[in-house]
Amino acid sequence: MNFELLDLDAAHAGHEKCDVLLMLLSATFKPGRNPLSSLISKALKAGDLADKPGSLLDIYRPAGLACARLVLIQVGDAKSNPVRKGVQAAIALIKAAKPKQITLCFDQTPDGQALHVALTTLAEASYVYATTLSKAEARTITHVKVGVPDSTNLAIPFAQTVAAVRGIELAKEWANRPANHATPSHLARAAQALAKSPRIKCEVLNLKDAEKLGMGAFLAVAKGSAEPPKFIELHYKGAPKTQPPVVLVGKGITFDSGGISIKPAAEMDEMKYDMCGAASVLGVFKALAELQPNINVVGLIPSCENLPSSRAVKPGDVVTSMSGQTIEILNTDAEGRLVLCDALTYAERFKPQAVLDIATLTGACVIALGGVRSGFFSTDEAMSAALAKASESSQDLCWPMPLDDDYAEGLKTSFADVANVAGRPGGAITAAKFLQRFASKYPWGHLDIAGTSWKSGTAKGATGRPVGLLLHYVLSLQTSAA
Ligand code: BES
Ligand code: MN
Ligand code: ZN
Repeated sequence: MNFELLDLDAAHAGHEKCDVLLMLLSATFKPGRNPLSSLISKALKAGDLADKPGSLLDIYRPAGLACARLVLIQVGDAKSNPVRKGVQAAIALIKAAKPKQITLCFDQTPDGQALHVALTTLAEASYVYATTLSKAEARTITHVKVGVPDSTNLAIPFAQTVAAVRGIELAKEWANRPANHATPSHLARAAQALAKSPRIKCEVLNLKDAEKLGMGAFLAVAKGSAEPPKFIELHYKGAPKTQPPVVLVGKGITFDSGGISIKPAAEMDEMKYDMCGAASVLGVFKALAELQPNINVVGLIPSCENLPSSRAVKPGDVVTSMSGQTIEILNTDAEGRLVLCDALTYAERFKPQAVLDIATLTGACVIALGGVRSGFFSTDEAMSAALAKASESSQDLCWPMPLDDDYAEGLKTSFADVANVAGRPGGAITAAKFLQRFASKYPWGHLDIAGTSWKSGTAKGATGRPVGLLLHYVLSLQTSAA
């Protein structure tokens, strides 16, 4: 999907040749003297375009305009919610006609946030998964012109949004692929492909390397599967070496059966999405490759399958993590924290300014926050503030969750330094408390994306979240001297 930013007022928008002209109208719409403005004024006066945000009016071959079809979209105060709803409804309306060239116009120049929401929503609504279909229908919308009355201050937000869309779509692609088409080795190759871009390097550690490093927790999960584990290390170097990197750690369980503590059969297929954290790290690197900002970012992806077998780790087994802490694995389905804890220890070597892990970690987080906000855990104030800001600006929302020490009580055991599960209450928090033990050497945060990174049911599929959130966060760490 190609995006192009243009200066277009209503007069010029009327001259744009395209299959569909999507016209976003705010409550403060001021008509000019041109055919498009007159048409809009008439429609508003007649009440044919309701003033409720999200209302649409669909017009075929409008007289005096160059577009084949015009859709007027009421967006009220032009804030993110009505813009999202309006664009979603408009794409749903025109999708069946298979338009190729779309022009999306704003009557008032939007702020960066509204622009971001409009374009990410448009990309989301027109996305089609194609990889494993024999006769795939590719997405028809290939070219999108974005018209605003005055683009002067929008060049940077526009470039960031376009990069975010590229990253989101890469993340969706990998997350949607079935587990036999998205093994740890496939993910490693996808990371290596990103390293063809300037400033990006990739190194892939294999089983032997992980053994030498003493990654006993990661390897305990991996050993139930014949599929070789991969520990993927990505580097984006956009700033001098003296600037400490931010490290993003993505859970890369390419299939989570639960292991010996096996999950029920119903909907087990959805556990192919257990690498959405990993996919979001790949997505961020894709966006960094496009934007080339002056920051240093490290991406770490511990990747393996979680399967039962005669060689699989068993409930009650005690393993030694890379940190030296011993872990009693009481439930083999709590595997995410096991692969992450060794990655968190590995992250120490980069002397990072901050480490943020991203994981489809707990069903409990889905119960707590649903699909609207990701759970965010951190004791670092600077990081919490930065994430809250990024959550707003990207509209890829997260919400702060607690880390009181009392939540760690249930992780105590007589047979190891720590157990990998506590009881069911507060499950998202006890999981975070487990991770926190391995993240004491740097400012740390954790995002539980189990509810936000994919949708189940009929609209089953990856959302590409939280690529937008992560990108806005890492870009906020740029120094002003670009
Ligand atoms: N990958 C799952 C978490 C998950 C559940 C993600 C539902 C998306 C939707 C994770 O590995 C897991 O199985 N967690 C267990 C932890 C429990 C055994 C303490 C869970 O949430 O049930
Ligand atoms: Mn699990
Ligand atoms: Zn899992």
